[in-house]
Amino acid sequence: MTEITIALAKGRLAECAAGLFENAGIDMSFLNTPTRKLVFYDEKNKVKFFFAKPADVPTYVEYGAADIGIVGRDTIAEEGRALYEVMDLGFGKCRMCVCGPESLKDNLDSIANKKVATKYPHIAKEYFEHVKKESVEIIKLNGSVELAPIVGLSDVIVDIVESGKTLAENGLCVLETISDVSARMIVNRVSMKTKRERILELVDKMKEKRDESR
Ligand code: PRP
Repeated sequence: MTEITIALAKGRLAECAAGLFENAGIDMSFLNTPTRKLVFYDEKNKVKFFFAKPADVPTYVEYGAADIGIVGRDTIAEEGRALYEVMDLGFGKCRMCVCGPESLKDNLDSIANKKVATKYPHIAKEYFEHVKKESVEIIKLNGSVELAPIVGLSDVIVDIVESGKTLAENGLCVLETISDVSARMIVNRVSMKTKRERILELVDKMKEKRDESR
C-alpha cells in the first residue's frame, strides 16, 4: 500500500476531521491521548499524521512534506500556495467579513483611506483594492483583532465571524461579507498524480461520511 502523509491544522478542525478519517478505517485514537508528540503513524493503513500551525499546513502540502492537508478556506486563501483544493469537509463553517462599529453600518464607504486591521493581509488587500477598488492601509495583527477598532488602531477589521459573539460582546458588527469559509482538504500537486488512487479512495470514504451528517 502507498504511504500517505496528512498535515492537520492543530485544534478543533483536527477533531472534526477525525470522524471522516475513521470512516476510511483510519485509527484516529491518537487525538484522545494527551501528548506533546507531533507525528503519529497508523501502521496498518500506512497513514502518517502530523500537527502544524494552521497557516503552515498549505506550506507543508505545497512542498510535498505532506500529501494532504486539512485546513480552513481562510488560511488557503491567505497563503496562496500552489496546491489542489479537493474537498469541502462541511464543518468549521464561518464567514470572512469586514467588521467595525455600528456607526459605520451602511456608511463604510464614507471613510477614505481606511485603516484595516487583520490577521489576513492578503485577503483584506485583495478585497479592498481589487474588488472594491479602494486604497486602504492594512495593519497586520496576530490575534484578538476586535481590539483594533475599539482602542483606535484601525477603522475596521477583516476577520472570521463564526457565532458573532466576539463582535457582539465588543460592540462591533458585520459591515460586509467577503466570503464563506469552511474546512477543506488540500492535496500536493505531484501526489495527486503519483498517489492518485489512494487519495481518491480516501476522498470517497470521507465524502460518504460528510454527506451522511448533512
Ligand atoms: C476567531 C476570530 C474571532 C472569533 C470569532 O478568533 O478571529 O476573533 O474567533 O468567533 P465568534 O464569531 O464565534 O465569536 P480565535 O478564537 O481564533 O482567536 P484569535 O483572534 O486570538 O486568533
